[in-house]
Amino acid sequence: MESSTTNDSFPSNKENGPKKLDKEYYIYPHKKLGKGGFGQINLGENILTKEKVAIKIEFLVTRSHLYSEFEIMKDLQGYDGIPKIYKYIKAKENNFLIMELLGKSLEKIFSYYQRKFSIKTVIQIAYQMIEKIEFIHSKGYIHRDIKPGNFLIGKGDNKNKIYIIDFGLSKRYLDKSLRIHIPYKEGKGLTGTARYASLFTHFGIEQSRRDDIECIAFNLIYFAKGKLPWQGVHAKNKKEKHKKIMEKKVSMTPEDLCEGLPDEIPTLIKYARKLEFDEEPDYHNIKLMFQNLLIKLGYQKDPKFDWENDDNFDKENESEDSKKDN
Ligand SMILES: Nc1ncnc2c1ncn2[C@@H]1O[C@H](COP(=O)(O)OP(=O)(O)O)[C@@H](O)[C@H]1O
Ligand SMILES: [Mg+2]
Repeated sequence: MESSTTNDSFPSNKENGPKKLDKEYYIYPHKKLGKGGFGQINLGENILTKEKVAIKIEFLVTRSHLYSEFEIMKDLQGYDGIPKIYKYIKAKENNFLIMELLGKSLEKIFSYYQRKFSIKTVIQIAYQMIEKIEFIHSKGYIHRDIKPGNFLIGKGDNKNKIYIIDFGLSKRYLDKSLRIHIPYKEGKGLTGTARYASLFTHFGIEQSRRDDIECIAFNLIYFAKGKLPWQGVHAKNKKEKHKKIMEKKVSMTPEDLCEGLPDEIPTLIKYARKLEFDEEPDYHNIKLMFQNLLIKLGYQKDPKFDWENDDNFDKENESEDSKKDN
């Protein structure tokens, strides 16, 4: 886990083959694994070990967001649910973050299954999302962008494991000593993704642990129902769109929102909204609640995700170049 400098820039070659980033890593300029708000992720390879890796690329910026993401991820290493990071490379026009190659995102898998997950899968996603956020919180960070594109499954035997990625918007809520909580503030802009944002976030209140929990609940509804009621609202601009999303969220009770779903999901929303700004969520009880739901519905004997035991899906998850960039 080191940092190095190279003079190469990317993307510069028009060829299809791998391009050397430094002595240790190749990047495949035309094998795009994903795209986000600030850059893209490509396939890469360790030249010596031949291990395939994922490379997050940041284009031409004065202040690097990727470097702070690298530092946060370094702080979170040693836990199974976070990709291992190998190196940060600073080049003339790009920065590169080299990390463990994972499988598809829950967003991509959701699309693959016609945008509907079984309730069994949703409950298990709930459990694993809470586990991951509990770990991040224990290290003094809040994630602030809980959404399906930021959770990936593992490759091969690890496809029953859900990893959390993308710490680009993450922030410390505790100082380095893990004792002092950030102060309560109002008048903040919306950080994260409006679709899954908590009500407090819409109201401009500084985010804390409770907001990550409410976001998880919105993700679960999205997976179980196929979409959220405020998707597709029409607006002239981003500000108006956020306002309309907020109004719709405020107007619906958790029960309205979760009609037809197990009570545990609206319970989670109500629980998150009752937490104080600096209060620690009871992760243990939330996990227990979903564990018990799995038992109540008789799913614990065969706790498989929808994408397990699906040979066609396996081919999809194991191909690294499903999205050629040309
Ligand atoms: N380690 C990885 N292995 C495989 N695919 C990845 C990896 N990291 C990111 N991706 C893909 O790239 C997409 C965007 O990555 P992300 O870190 O969320 O970027 P952004 O900060 O721009 O949103 C993810 O949704 C996923 O599809
Ligand atoms: Mg992302």
